[in-house]
Amino acid sequence: MSSLLRCCVFLCLCGSGLGELDTCSEVHKVFQVRQIGPNQVLPSSPRSGADLQVCTSKSLTCCTKKMEEKYQVAARRDVQNLLQTYSSRLKLLLSRYVAAFQETFEVLMRQAENHTNVVLQVSYQKIADPAAGSVRELFTDVGLFLLGSELNVDEFVQRFFDALLPLVYNHYISPGVGDTSPGYAECVRSLNRIIKPFGTVPDLFADQIATSGVSGKLLLQALHLGIEVINTTDHLQLSRECRRALLKMQYCPHCQGITHSKPCMGYCLNVMRGCLASMAEIDAHWREFVRSLEGLSARMHGAQDLEQVLLGAHTMLHDAIGHAQKNGPRLSAQVQKLCSTSIRRPAQSVSIQDANSRVSIPLKGLNRRSDDSLSVMRKDFLKTLRTFSTFYGGLADQMCLQGLSSGDGVPCWNGTNIVKSYTRRVVGNGIRAQSINPEVKVKGEDPVINQIIDKLKHINQLLQGKSIPKLGSLDQIETGSGDSEGHYSGDCDDEDGCAGSGGGEVNREVSKMSPDVTSDYKHHHYHHPPAKDSEIDGKSHSLRLTGAIWVLVLPCLHMISDL
Ligand SMILES: *[C@@H]1O[C@H](CO)[C@@H](O)[C@H](O)[C@H]1NC(C)=O
Ligand SMILES: *[C@@H]1O[C@H](CO)[C@@H](O)[C@H](O)[C@H]1NC(C)=O
Ligand SMILES: *[C@@H]1O[C@H](CO)[C@@H](O)[C@H](O)[C@H]1NC(C)=O
Repeated sequence: MSSLLRCCVFLCLCGSGLGELDTCSEVHKVFQVRQIGPNQVLPSSPRSGADLQVCTSKSLTCCTKKMEEKYQVAARRDVQNLLQTYSSRLKLLLSRYVAAFQETFEVLMRQAENHTNVVLQVSYQKIADPAAGSVRELFTDVGLFLLGSELNVDEFVQRFFDALLPLVYNHYISPGVGDTSPGYAECVRSLNRIIKPFGTVPDLFADQIATSGVSGKLLLQALHLGIEVINTTDHLQLSRECRRALLKMQYCPHCQGITHSKPCMGYCLNVMRGCLASMAEIDAHWREFVRSLEGLSARMHGAQDLEQVLLGAHTMLHDAIGHAQKNGPRLSAQVQKLCSTSIRRPAQSVSIQDANSRVSIPLKGLNRRSDDSLSVMRKDFLKTLRTFSTFYGGLADQMCLQGLSSGDGVPCWNGTNIVKSYTRRVVGNGIRAQSINPEVKVKGEDPVINQIIDKLKHINQLLQGKSIPKLGSLDQIETGSGDSEGHYSGDCDDEDGCAGSGGGEVNREVSKMSPDVTSDYKHHHYHHPPAKDSEIDGKSHSLRLTGAIWVLVLPCLHMISDL
């Protein structure tokens, strides 16, 4: 039906010449069905189009100046809807991964906390209950740190061991002694930092949390930036030249009574490559972004792997307490010297009787689950993300191929006529290529796009480990973006109101990132051998994870097949 019509239109226009428009009823119908504007702007019959600005024609026309304006708005809306349809898949991929990552991470934290409590229950039963609050606080802090708070890792790890020391001392080093005064406990607490009874364990643990945490944090921040990039391009203001070119391409044929023809492929490519020229400039940086994320992911193993670090926490704790027990005599001496005001009976203490309490833990129940949930999720995600690495480079082509333009060999609109094929030269992608674009004049770079490119460049550097964020300050990549939906202010006409323009202040938060973060973190490699063979809540957990992974992957598969 539509090809029949096209054919008819083609014959009418090309076969018998222009200017034989005798009714606008079809044009009216389309105008109403697509809700382009109110009926009042429609002329009752073909008229001279002398007042038209874009859809000019020597012959009679079905358009009025008001209609031209409405068509322009509609053309822009069509293109923006199409753009958002394409990007929504990518956006969904990113936001679902962020959500799944956070959820899995929370499960992991609860699990690490549980394992730590279980170790205490099994090996150090007397302090298990009183220490539970501190254990919870430790993991809460780790969680806050990872999800963006500017916490000092050394500090909260030491605070945990501060709290642990009086418990360990009173129950396993010098038990059965009566001093429970707050001053005394406080004094024992303070010895943690002075004589370091837990040895290097707290420092090493803090290092691991900081190092693996920085990677995890960076990954999350990068994904948020990815979402911001898409959000920015989704809401990009199209230039006046572009809007006019879209009008001409999409709706000027309607003025001539032609409602069923689509633009020629080459014509569409010129228009869209012109309109999206600045977006195409993102291409190289977006590809690099995807590559850099893969690079970061590849580095996230061993002590860099948050999951391993967290699930090794209980082993770490076990080692730390063992260390304090070995240091028992020295610790007791110090406590007596510095803390005992009176009551404490001398040296009844010490470690021998506690040797028994160091039962070996049934580690097999506690260890890593067979699937590395976070890293499996991450790999699946990156695999799908890779299919979007050329997203910005291929956008114009994709929009023409799949929506806007006619198929090959079909009569098509070339901007003035229905023809067999478009004869002008077709330009490439990117701003430089537009200097010879015959359809759209492209003035130059878009400040909003430039800003987002700067952010991408910066995060790429961070992801590649070339410059290192100050801990916590990564947030700046994001803050400042909320209000930066800048407008293309230099270029605005009255045709559609240009609401909100003028606020083109470009936000430069990104460049504030200071170099040098992890340099204060010594790079020890503190490996607890990953233990094997996990049984504890393995089943339900892996079910949950599988669920989470499917939540992540299914829509992607769907998206791919939709493409
Ligand atoms: C750890 O988790 C298991 C299974 O989910 C639960 O039965 C147990 O009570 C938890 N233990 C602690 C100390 O939280
Ligand atoms: C996306 O942009 C809209 C409008 O500019 C804004 O309201 C929203 O917060 C942004 N969302 C994200 C995730 O950046
Ligand atoms: C469109 O086709 C007409 C008729 O063949 C031709 O005169 C005109 O130059 C073409 N315009 C473009 C932009 O190619």
